[in-house]
Amino acid sequence: MKRIYLSPPHLDGNEKKYLIEAFESNWITTLGPHVDLFEKEICQKLGIGHAAALSSGTAALHLALLLAGIRPGDEVICSDLTFAASVNAITYCGASPVFIDSDRTTWNMDPLLLAEELSECRKRGKMPKAAIVVDLYGQCADYAPIQEICREYDITVIEDAAEALGADYRGRKAGTFGRFGVLSFNGNKIITTSGGGMLVSDDEAAIKRARYLASQAREPYPYYHHVEIGYNYRLSNILAAIGRAQLENLDRKIEKRKAVNRFYRKAFAGIPGVEILPETPYGKSNYWLTVILFEPKTLGCDREGIRLALEAENIEARPVWKPMHLQPVFAEWRIRGGSVSESLFEKGLCLPSGCDLTDMDLERIVEIVSRVIKTARVDGG
Ligand SMILES: Cc1ncc(COP(=O)(O)O)c(C=O)c1O
Repeated sequence: MKRIYLSPPHLDGNEKKYLIEAFESNWITTLGPHVDLFEKEICQKLGIGHAAALSSGTAALHLALLLAGIRPGDEVICSDLTFAASVNAITYCGASPVFIDSDRTTWNMDPLLLAEELSECRKRGKMPKAAIVVDLYGQCADYAPIQEICREYDITVIEDAAEALGADYRGRKAGTFGRFGVLSFNGNKIITTSGGGMLVSDDEAAIKRARYLASQAREPYPYYHHVEIGYNYRLSNILAAIGRAQLENLDRKIEKRKAVNRFYRKAFAGIPGVEILPETPYGKSNYWLTVILFEPKTLGCDREGIRLALEAENIEARPVWKPMHLQPVFAEWRIRGGSVSESLFEKGLCLPSGCDLTDMDLERIVEIVSRVIKTARVDGG
């Protein structure tokens, strides 16, 4: 039986054409027309002023923090329920993360807990300088209260929209809510360049500086002259060519993933103990991954049993992100709350959500999950 992956790359447009064009024009390094066009087209899609194409979303996070002036010893707020890359970038700056738990209805950063934490920080006399707010599994965080709170405490918002390209919040696109927005074109994302990312902002000078830092901080001299530490973070013209072709089909990919989500939603509707990631009332998801909570007390089986049953049939499913405060590598840092993300991790399973899934694939997945649930019900009496 062919393997069904969680979220594989989906190349169904002009990828090969643009790639060959890049080859034939000999623009195969980190400069070239596809890089410039990819940046422009992302800006148009998001309705934002400026963008720097980079080698990864992690690189974009790192540069965003440097541009926000994060220095060793600073504190940076971060969503607790996320992929480690959001936090790793904080540690690259020598700064310390402070984790904020999820809101139970959106699964994204809880604005009330953020306000609580910042109020405590003020009493303590040390304020975080920035907040990395993650848009989880394709849905925006609740930016109205988050921006208001961060404004009150003069904290730079960095939006980690790595998983949410194409999503929106009250009609505005994901990636445009912080001083900086971060996108990822990693292999499992809704569009991919094999690996890549983008830093976006309305601050033109900051994006120019991001390009400078991403090119080894090379000064405009005929010889190599450096006054600052730089990084090798630019995206190649070859990969930007793939990205442009992928971006052309973003809306279609969102439609396809939405259809996958609707299929699961219908199949599992009304089963006590089974809950699909709720859709937020304030925005539109890009449906990157469909995530389901399986309540072991009600079902008599847990998400790990279901994952193993799928794996036995060559189907990849993955537990929800393990919260950052539970990661041994981040254990020393502060967490506000934590019980919501822990419970989502315990019960949550990401089901295959790729654009290439057929109805037969989806029926197979649903059939296996339903079988495990039924067997547990019979065994449990
Ligand atoms: C929330 C989040 N932030 C950051 C990243 C990092 O992006 P990249 O893999 O492009 O470095 C990812 C995914 O990979 C992610 O899911």
